[in-house]
Amino acid sequence: MSRPDGWELVCIGCGTPAETELPDSTCRKCGDLLEIRLTKGIDSRSFFSGEGPGIWRFKQALPFTPDVEPVSLEEGGTPLVRTGRFATGVGLHDLYAKNDGQNPTGSFKDRGMSVAVTRAKTLGVKALVCASTGNTAASLAAYAAKAGMDAVVVVPRAGVASGKLGQAFAYGARVFGVEGNFDQALATVFDLVRKDDRFYLMNSVNPFRIEGQKITAYEIYEQLARVPDYVVLPVGNAGNISAIWKGFKELRKLGIIDSVPKLIGVQAEGAAPLAAAISSGEPFKPLEEPRTVASAIRIGNPVSWKKALNAIRESGGGAAVVTDEEIMEAKRRLSQEEGLLVEAASAAPFAALVKLKLTREATVVCIATGNGLKDLSDHGGDYKIEPAVDSDSIANSIGSLR
Ligand code: F0G
Repeated sequence: MSRPDGWELVCIGCGTPAETELPDSTCRKCGDLLEIRLTKGIDSRSFFSGEGPGIWRFKQALPFTPDVEPVSLEEGGTPLVRTGRFATGVGLHDLYAKNDGQNPTGSFKDRGMSVAVTRAKTLGVKALVCASTGNTAASLAAYAAKAGMDAVVVVPRAGVASGKLGQAFAYGARVFGVEGNFDQALATVFDLVRKDDRFYLMNSVNPFRIEGQKITAYEIYEQLARVPDYVVLPVGNAGNISAIWKGFKELRKLGIIDSVPKLIGVQAEGAAPLAAAISSGEPFKPLEEPRTVASAIRIGNPVSWKKALNAIRESGGGAAVVTDEEIMEAKRRLSQEEGLLVEAASAAPFAALVKLKLTREATVVCIATGNGLKDLSDHGGDYKIEPAVDSDSIANSIGSLR
């Protein structure tokens, strides 16, 4: 059912319209995920000339009326950086990094969080809750602070990067740890919101999160002034790949573009249930004990698996699997060849390019989802401070330069 502010909420499984997204963002009839469909008219000619910071320039494509007052930290509008030596090394001419680590809390999560917290505010919600491997927690905590709401985050007790936890505490969230992984944390918050209606669920099952994150697609098209051949990104709980695909489909529906990129979802070898479903052709099966150095995507039961499989199949893309060693090597090379410090999960799509062997002429965009400053521990403590006895000792030990 269409609302006065120009959108409707529909189940992706049975197509049933939903009255409201509360409490757990799933369909009351079949339990599947909900999706926002815009019913308002969008003027494609003025699409890229909106005003406002970051994602809010595209307010006409968001589920709000024009007079909405966003809860914003000026998220989005991140750089699309062309890579040089790294691109050459993987046999590509046009490889870009969409540097979403430059968002206010250092990850792409801020895009969706701004939209979902804005929605929560209009609903009069008091407390926001999420499960997280770290970045969602940091982002939720910051936007809750900005909105004057309480934030509750549930994380795996072990294995969350200390920088991300530190952010959540600094922004004033209550932090709870489960003895288990992200999948158990998510099951716990689902339980919580179903039992206690004081809490509003902020994981990417919340369709407003997806609306904010879809804007990455608009920005990529605008910054490149063309549609890339491939968009390659890490997949954990599978919200972002679903969102970016929604963004490109909307641009096509509006007649702004007539082709769409192939989406390639990248997972770590020990946490690759979606890639397994794609390569085997078998139905999706969750993985009990996901393992990878890339803690952000250490997820065995991605809640948006169905949307992600659709995105990959409809776009004609694929899934790739990379080992922890390949991730860390790509992370090192990105820092040292491009000056781009990303966290391990965000290095996964770059690592995949080494083996995907895409055609040299292809235009490829990798989503650099999170800032490497959040997690410096995954270098394995390989920093060595050399003694500076005097200036001669430095000059002598440097030897010849590259
Ligand atoms: N990259 C980073 C840096 C992430 O933090 C995440 C997810 C992903 C990629 C995967 O995105 O879940 O939309 O497929 N992090 C979540 C969190 C799970 O709690 O911060 P996805």
